[in-house]
Amino acid sequence: MNAHDAVEVISTKRDGGALSRSQISWVVDAYTKGVVADEQMSALAMAILLNGMDGREIADWTEAMIASGERMDFSTLSRPTADKHSTGGVGDKITLPLAPLVAACGVAVPQLSGRGLGHTGGTLDKLESIPGWRATLSNEEMLAQLESVGAVICAAGDGLAPADRKLYALRDVTGTVEAIPLIASSIMSKKIAEGTGALVLDVKVGSGAFMKDVDRARELAEVMVALGSNAGVTTVALLTDMDVPLGLTAGNAIEVAESVEVLAGGGPPDVVELTLALAREMLAGAGVTDVDPADRLADGSAMDAWKAMIRAQGGDPDAPLPTARESHVVTADAGGVLTRLDALAVGIAAWRLGAGRERKEDPVQAGAGVVWHARPGDAVTAGQPLFTLLTDTPERFDRALAALDGGYRIDPPGTSYDARPLVIDRVGEVAPVQR
Ligand code: URA
Repeated sequence: MNAHDAVEVISTKRDGGALSRSQISWVVDAYTKGVVADEQMSALAMAILLNGMDGREIADWTEAMIASGERMDFSTLSRPTADKHSTGGVGDKITLPLAPLVAACGVAVPQLSGRGLGHTGGTLDKLESIPGWRATLSNEEMLAQLESVGAVICAAGDGLAPADRKLYALRDVTGTVEAIPLIASSIMSKKIAEGTGALVLDVKVGSGAFMKDVDRARELAEVMVALGSNAGVTTVALLTDMDVPLGLTAGNAIEVAESVEVLAGGGPPDVVELTLALAREMLAGAGVTDVDPADRLADGSAMDAWKAMIRAQGGDPDAPLPTARESHVVTADAGGVLTRLDALAVGIAAWRLGAGRERKEDPVQAGAGVVWHARPGDAVTAGQPLFTLLTDTPERFDRALAALDGGYRIDPPGTSYDARPLVIDRVGEVAPVQR
């Protein structure tokens, strides 16, 4: 006889009650095995969205999702581990320079990543624009690369939190993605199962992010930090701006090129600032306090780790990156100051040009995307290029231009622009060394 049944669990949450540990472990397990039907889990997800969950329920739910699959173990490595997770933004290529940088500082980075869906890009899609690079590694290959190179960015295997894979696909089509208990348990179940010792969460806030306002982003960060800390993972979160896209590019190959500029000691200042802020948090979480990551960018060792990481996965870090066949330049129709560059508009434009996919089985174009030539606060002159749109399929230009329409603004010369800080807030205990 079953310990519970689906209608009883759904009604408990529908009526505002707290689910017991036993109800949660039963329903997550039964759903993963197909005993609880999609329509029943949809009803439960909606009841959770409407009535919430307390901290104990969220912790039990996360534990049940972890228990649905395998747990990785990096305890045999000779160095500590730290990982970073971003809730997703436009132009967010930070993982690319960050993983080899942290590896160059002596901390191993096991970064299990995904492909993009919708207007935010996927780390694997970006790396797959490098000739020869492969995303799929066995657990043994991953462990060996972590020991030899110190950094791995690869696809999460099917064995990790399978309950989340099934539930996330269901939430996507039932209007229940936005529930904070479900977002937090989804992200943290995968990160805890991955076995990292320390975790830094980059919770994006703004038009191009999942979380549009700071209060909700802070609430999500607090729930995730508590889940990680209770599971023995040293966890902190930074709340970072996503009203404006990061850097100067959104696409696949063009974001790889920008990341390589950062590793070479250049690159856009905001990308460098966020890479260093997250690296310092990862190092502090892993207990490494005697290395400044800025020195590892300057002395070339982060670049060496990048090349070794790409080569270890079959890629050629020195091969030319693919370029788009067609381009279209948007110029400023008046001189003045750029006071708005909307992350969502840029993300949708890049996606429509072919950098992202509509359905998860769609291919992406390696060379497609948007390059912007000015950032908010910059003075621009009439006729100056503001954006370059890139694609292999020029019939996409019109819809990309429509996405950008209204997504930027030029005010008269001399207009002041008050930038929101890139790092808006921090949630968590362990503080990095201040330099
Ligand atoms: N990313 C995830 O992995 N899960 C969510 O629920 C939302 C974003």
